[in-house]
Order: sequence, then structure tokens, then C-alpha cells
Amino acid sequence: MIDLKNKVAIITGARRGMGRTHALIMAQAGARVAISDISLEECENVVSEIEAQAGEAMAFKCDVTNAEEINEMVKRVVGEWGKIDILVNNAGVFSLKPFVEMTEKDWDFVLDINLKGYFLMAKSVVPHMIKNNSGSIINISSIASGQVGIGFAAATHYVASKGGISGWTEALAVELAPHNIRVNAISPGLIDTPMIDVIKENKEAEKAVLDKIPMKRAGKPEEISYMVAFLASDMASYMTGSNVVIDGGMLAG
Ligand SMILES: NC(=O)c1ccc[n+]([C@@H]2O[C@H](COP(=O)([O-])OP(=O)(O)OC[C@H]3O[C@@H](n4cnc5c(N)ncnc54)[C@H](O)[C@@H]3O)[C@@H](O)[C@H]2O)c1
Repeated sequence: MIDLKNKVAIITGARRGMGRTHALIMAQAGARVAISDISLEECENVVSEIEAQAGEAMAFKCDVTNAEEINEMVKRVVGEWGKIDILVNNAGVFSLKPFVEMTEKDWDFVLDINLKGYFLMAKSVVPHMIKNNSGSIINISSIASGQVGIGFAAATHYVASKGGISGWTEALAVELAPHNIRVNAISPGLIDTPMIDVIKENKEAEKAVLDKIPMKRAGKPEEISYMVAFLASDMASYMTGSNVVIDGGMLAG
């Protein structure tokens, strides 16, 4: 049902995890997708997977903290495919460190990727969307972002970055609505990607999180990607400034 034919998408952090499944599912729905991440080779593997299912994709080495690499990618995508309809800000990092041990470097590393990286991507892409008077930006936030009753010990930098994304999404949605650009966030709960290896390694910590989830399991990456594809599509034409929680009931529990 979700139709992304004739749409062009850029996805950050797409070499693995959820970014990879966003790319595969959006390509299945007909979008041409730019797969970007810090490793070109792994992005090329995802392009091969998409081409094997008759989709169209290009791979880019693009660090979201590097404005030059971002602008170069955006220029090439517009040069090759003529426009950008969809931006999925997905690249992110997570680490556990007690606040008293956290250094300025630890803080900046997480905030630069998870918060400033989304800003830099939007700065580069939005002028092209304004030109077309059309666009959909999807920001991957998290339920670990404040105001929802889930404190996340030893991840204050991560929670600050995701809280920033949730607020930024609303502000940007209001500002870009006159240009027919929709901006929405998705807040996943625990999703089974390499990012949660650090939790899975500690069986006690894993059990503590699973105990809080009424569905008693982590989500699968594609359970987030179907919502990404929906928000990217014209079926979501009246949705902007929303933050969709997908968490197996964690916040309700
Ligand atoms: N897995 C979860 O439980 C969970 C829950 C809530 C939100 N999230 C968010 O979902 C998004 C996807 O994470 P995931 O779970 O698939 O984890 P992941 O670690 O598998 O994927 C994150 C990707 O981001 C890329 N990345 C890191 N730094 C980058 C940089 N500077 N430039 C470009 N790419 C960079 C990584 O290389 C990786 O491919 C992240 O924003 C994450 O914070 C994850």
C-alpha cells in the first residue's frame, strides 16, 4: 500500500541496524535511496541487497559531523536524481558512562553525532525541499528523551541528544510547514540492533529492561522502518510535528 515511487530519499547511518531496514523497505516501496554511513564498503553491501530486489540505490561515505561530506553527498544525489523528497536522520551512537566519569569529549562525541548531525543534514537538504515546495523529514529520536518517565542512568549525554531531537522536530515542523515540508520524529523503545549489544552483554541489565516492556521482547528493526516508510509517504500528508512512539508498550506499562 505504501507507495514511494518517484521519490528520492537520503538515509543516514544506513550500513546496518535500523538504517539498513529503512533503506530496504523504502526501496521496496519504490523510492530511490542514498545509503550513507561512515563505511562506504558496508553501504555498498546494502546497495547490492537493494539492487538484488530490483531497487535503485547509491552508496555514500558520509560522516554526519562533516558538513563538507554532507554537502558533497547532497550535491551528487540532486545531480543524479534531480531532487530530494525524504530525509531520514537515523545515524546515532549510544554509550554507557556514569555522569561523574563523563568527560567533555564523551559528551561532545554523542551530541555532535546525535544532535548536530541531524541539524547539518537538514541544513544541506532543506533548501532543495523548499525549491520543490515538498518534503518529509523523519528524525529518529528515542523514548530515552525526557518527559516520558523513562530515566536512563549512565546515558545522560544520549538522553540529552534525543530530548534535543524531539524538541527540534516540533520547532522545525512549525517553521517548515509553509513550505509543505513535514517533519516528524519516531521514538523507538528497545530495538534489536548492534546498538543494544552493550545492554545484551549484561544479562542483568537486559532482564531489567525487558521486565519493563509489556511485550517482553525487543522490537525488530523493520517494526520501526514500516513507520518511517509511512511517514515518508503521501499517506501521512496531514502529519507534521508528531513524535510516534513504538516501544512494545514500555511507556504504557
Ligand atoms: N536500538 C535501539 O534500541 C534504539 C532505540 C531508540 C533509538 N535508537 C536510535 O535509532 C537510530 C539507529 O540506531 P540502531 O539501533 O540501528 O544502531 P546501529 O548502531 O546499528 O546504527 C547506527 C548507525 O549510525 C552510524 N553512525 C554512527 N556515527 C556516525 C556518523 N558520525 N556519521 C554517519 N553515521 C554514523 C553507525 O555507523 C551505524 O551504522 C539511532 O539514532 C539510535 O539512537 C535506537
